[in-house]
Amino acid sequence: MRKGIWQEFDGYQDIAEEIKVSRKLGGTVSSVVASAEEYIRQLHPERIVLSVTDIIEETPSTKTLRLVSKDNYLPPFLAGQYIALFLEIGTIRTSRPYSISSQPNQTGFYDITVRRIENGLVSNYLLDEVKRGDTLVSSGPAGNFYFNPLIHKKTMVCIAGGSGITPFMSMIREIIECGLDRSVYLFYGNKTMDDIIFGAEVNRIAERFDNIHYIPVVEEPSGGYAGACGFITRDLMKEVLENIEEKSFFICGPQGLYDFCLPQVEVMGVPRRKIKQEMYGAPPNISEYPGWPDTISEDDVFNVKVKNGQQIQACAGDPLLTALEKNDVVVPSLCRSGECSMCRVKILSGKVYQPPGVPVRKSDRQFGYVHSCMAYPIEDLEILL
Ligand SMILES: Cc1cc2nc3c(=O)[nH]c(=O)nc-3n(C[C@H](O)[C@H](O)[C@H](O)COP(=O)(O)OP(=O)(O)OC[C@H]3O[C@@H](n4cnc5c(N)ncnc54)[C@H](O)[C@@H]3O)c2cc1C
Ligand code: FES
Repeated sequence: MRKGIWQEFDGYQDIAEEIKVSRKLGGTVSSVVASAEEYIRQLHPERIVLSVTDIIEETPSTKTLRLVSKDNYLPPFLAGQYIALFLEIGTIRTSRPYSISSQPNQTGFYDITVRRIENGLVSNYLLDEVKRGDTLVSSGPAGNFYFNPLIHKKTMVCIAGGSGITPFMSMIREIIECGLDRSVYLFYGNKTMDDIIFGAEVNRIAERFDNIHYIPVVEEPSGGYAGACGFITRDLMKEVLENIEEKSFFICGPQGLYDFCLPQVEVMGVPRRKIKQEMYGAPPNISEYPGWPDTISEDDVFNVKVKNGQQIQACAGDPLLTALEKNDVVVPSLCRSGECSMCRVKILSGKVYQPPGVPVRKSDRQFGYVHSCMAYPIEDLEILL
């Protein structure tokens, strides 16, 4: 064997010995590699089989599902990450991501907290059909919406709307239970007081821990409410925060919250690199977005030919991924908000609309790949899966 610097690495002799033995015995895979692969599989499993052990009613429109692994092992996660649930509802095989609302130091279960979306396929199924004892299948924890001590300041300004409170709940619970050296200002916007999720718990925490500050904001408050009204504006944030120095900003919720709050944060002078955001899915009313062609309505229907596969019809207002799933064409997916690249498809001919800000890699763009969860057909298409 050639001599090299690697001979000085820790463990070199053991590995060299193992290679010698496996060659002698005809083995091809070293046990070290095999155990490393097993370890990686445990940390990042493709699928987890979960049992629903409890269902907790949070608000009239929201429930928490407590999920326990059927093989007694749940991979660790970072507060703020999500799991994608894979479901078969009627004839449709689909997936949806849900942030884990329980804290990472609680290793026995994952909680997900689901809010009902009017006419929503999966939220209504989870809230109305799923019972204690049912089995669900998920991805491993994923996503990069978490606190990173190398780049984030210890004071976090968290801006949530509706179900967008779930990743922040996981972070706050971890901070107080593990005594982490971090402060949180949670601005939490909702339409009515009935919509507020985890309100009583966050209030209790904020009263007890002086590093957690809770600022609920209600658009249409009812009698007895003494908090902030309207929307989460720059003026409100300035009043509470005094300054923006040494703070990192996190925004999470439906597209409407993001569209309103991001400019509010930016006009306060916060640079974009200090703002981290998680969008809760594809935007509704896509035709109102900048760059949508005037001549196309969301109801227009186009033919989509899958190369070496079937031809389907797709509405301009539906993301391509949704249209494919409605026709029993399954494309791998995880985040469904243009972040993870799992749902890439290649556009061989025709045009799609992609909302501004969807991060497509330069090489993907160059070779005609799009994220099908954030691409809307605006011409007849031929695609490659
Ligand atoms: C990373 C990530 C984490 C998420 N975590 C959570 C969570 O913790 N709790 C939770 O309840 N949801 C969460 N979501 C949203 C969730 O994945 C689904 O999008 C949501 O449950 C709606 O799915 P659906 O099948 O019921 O609606 P669909 O059938 O997909 O949509 C029906 C209609 O509602 C609109 N719509 C879809 N989602 C929303 C929304 N969030 N707000 C307003 N309108 C919408 C669509 O544009 C469509 O017109 C998360 C999304 C992402 C990307
Ligand atoms: S599913 Fe993640 S980018 Fe489309």
